[in-house]
Amino acid sequence: MPNEILTETIGAVGVCRLNRPDKLNAINIPLMEQLVAALEAFDKNPEIRCMLVAGSERAFAAGADIAEMASAGMVEMYIRNQFATWDRIGLVQKPIVAAASGYVLGGGCELMMNCDIIVAAEGTQFGLPEINLGVIPGAGGTQRLTRALGKARAMDLILTGRSIDAAEALAAGLVSRVVPRESYFDAALQVCKDLCTKAPLALRFAKEAVMKNYALTLEEGIQHERKLFYMLFGTQDQKEGMGAFVEKRKANFAGK
Ligand code: CAA
Repeated sequence: MPNEILTETIGAVGVCRLNRPDKLNAINIPLMEQLVAALEAFDKNPEIRCMLVAGSERAFAAGADIAEMASAGMVEMYIRNQFATWDRIGLVQKPIVAAASGYVLGGGCELMMNCDIIVAAEGTQFGLPEINLGVIPGAGGTQRLTRALGKARAMDLILTGRSIDAAEALAAGLVSRVVPRESYFDAALQVCKDLCTKAPLALRFAKEAVMKNYALTLEEGIQHERKLFYMLFGTQDQKEGMGAFVEKRKANFAGK
């Protein structure tokens, strides 16, 4: 199987880099399986104190892999239940820092929102453009973006599919730090190194306590969102929207 991610350890930091640069790190099923397995392995490793997830400078990740799901039917999506793998990120106990850069769209933005501290390069573009494909965010985006930004901004981004830049994301509370593009990875690594100096058990419990703040109703919301996402694969508009992307043409939606 190709290495859809690259891992290394830097001191006590477990680094995971998405490794599909020619596809702007579009998240296919093997990539997410490898990422989750790596995060779980680092979580169990007593030498590791926190993890760093990064893409390339051009793209943290431009979404879930559209080509992989474009032709799938509703029942196939429901049975495949690919987003169940993503839920395992929520069980990782050590802190996960995201180094966001370039395109952070759709599933890429949803992956980023699964991380605990987000360091973004200036000029990074964030968005949930699924509406332009005839679907909705399916990996927690409608729930986590609304928690992060509030209803007004979340509705704006999710219904229009527009992107915001790092400055707007910082002002809105989607990310916590924006740094110069040339140093974004090092800045995120520095945050990790700082976390490595903290008491590991206190870090773990602090993360758990913050996550409890919204875990229960978030879970219900995510399950509901997932059902709706899979159901859209029974529509013509999903086939048209994803088919148009794959064929590099403009989509024409019929409302069916
Ligand atoms: N899935 C599959 N392939 C993708 C992809 C994606 N999400 N995003 C980019 N790619 C591929 C392109 O198909 C292209 O591949 P080829 O060179 O083989 O043709 C390559 O990456 C480079 O992309 P572009 O040529 O399109 O690059 P660009 O600079 O012209 O445009 C972009 C960049 C605006 C980000 C554009 O690629 C784009 O719009 N991507 C899709 C964004 C999107 O809709 N994301 C949501 C996906 S659905 C989802 O994530 C569901 C969910 O909730 C989990």
